[in-house]
Amino acid sequence: MIQVKDNVYWLGLKDWDLRRFHGHELSTHRGSTYNTYLIKDEKTILVDTVWTPYKEDFLELLEQQVGISNIDGIVINHMEPDHGGSLEAIMEIIPDVPIYCSRKGVDTIKGHFHKEWNFVPVKTGDRINIGKSDLIFVEMTMIHWPDSMMTYVTGSNVLLSNDAFGEHYCSQSIFEDESDACEVYQEALKYFANILAPFTPLIKKKIAEVKQLGLPIDVIAPSHGVIWRKDPMRIVEKYALWADNYHEGFVTIVYDTMYNATKKMAEAIAKGIEGKGIPCRIYNSSVTDVSDIITAMFCSKGILLGSCTVNNGYLRSLSGIVDELKGHKLKEKIGAAFGSYGWSGEAPKQLYEGLKDAGIKVEIEPFSVRYVPTQADLQKCERFGEEFAEKM
Ligand code: FEO
Repeated sequence: MIQVKDNVYWLGLKDWDLRRFHGHELSTHRGSTYNTYLIKDEKTILVDTVWTPYKEDFLELLEQQVGISNIDGIVINHMEPDHGGSLEAIMEIIPDVPIYCSRKGVDTIKGHFHKEWNFVPVKTGDRINIGKSDLIFVEMTMIHWPDSMMTYVTGSNVLLSNDAFGEHYCSQSIFEDESDACEVYQEALKYFANILAPFTPLIKKKIAEVKQLGLPIDVIAPSHGVIWRKDPMRIVEKYALWADNYHEGFVTIVYDTMYNATKKMAEAIAKGIEGKGIPCRIYNSSVTDVSDIITAMFCSKGILLGSCTVNNGYLRSLSGIVDELKGHKLKEKIGAAFGSYGWSGEAPKQLYEGLKDAGIKVEIEPFSVRYVPTQADLQKCERFGEEFAEKM
């Protein structure tokens, strides 16, 4: 158990080995942590649990460090199994303790465990006294589940923010100021881009709402990754920035290719864009981690998708990218599509439609080259890139 501040302690598990999360959906190159917190006041309150596969380890830790029967109440900020997954195992030992959660949390907890426990539903602004401190709850509906909420501890001024302000990151320390800041911010941005980007309008409103509550915040302690205790509002400011049609001004070109014709097109298009002073990143989607591509697209001002045509469509690896773009609802991005073909040539047009369906602004027609591009074709690709750059 590590003291976070005053009566708030970290009691989590580090998962150095984790490389895929949300099933296999999300890459986690630097592992993750399942942060749970203990508030030791007149009452002892556990905030969140750990992912289901680690419930035995967690029970052992909890028993050693706290004594499970000493727990007076459990806050479940969010029931996704990486936080709520060990709840049932704990409730088997202390079946009558109150579970504080949002109204939607009652529904999600019941949906997972099908048990009638002692639920105490709470809403934004509700507070419960646990001795010297109060716990104040702030609903975070759809950031990123219906049940999500945060818990604020008065006195120590610690905000237990659950998924918000977290990142999948495991380091030697649980504190941001003792970790590699570059790695931490990279992972926080990746987390935001991959998990929270679809909810940016809600995040903007929520940041304003939390500021209006006027709660002094000394520490932000999320449920994954590092705890922000040195200038904790820096990550809040980052969230405000990332939630506001964020881009870093570059172009991301994502392509797949069978015999390198579309690859040559991608490189020539990039040359045209870069000639206009706009940097490009190029990814072959068949060999690149999709979560990393999503992060790059989130940070881009422009997104180009390219594929040769096969079986009247685009290559399989682009399907995942188009679907992710639709789901992530990225705002204020400009897009275009391209690809080589032999006879039917549907892929660029379908990618163009996919970009439009995803809400990407597509202002130039898809661009195709038949079979292997000639020097003249490559010059046309460059001009296509220049035209795209001018649209930006
Ligand atoms: Fe929404 Fe960390 O789970």
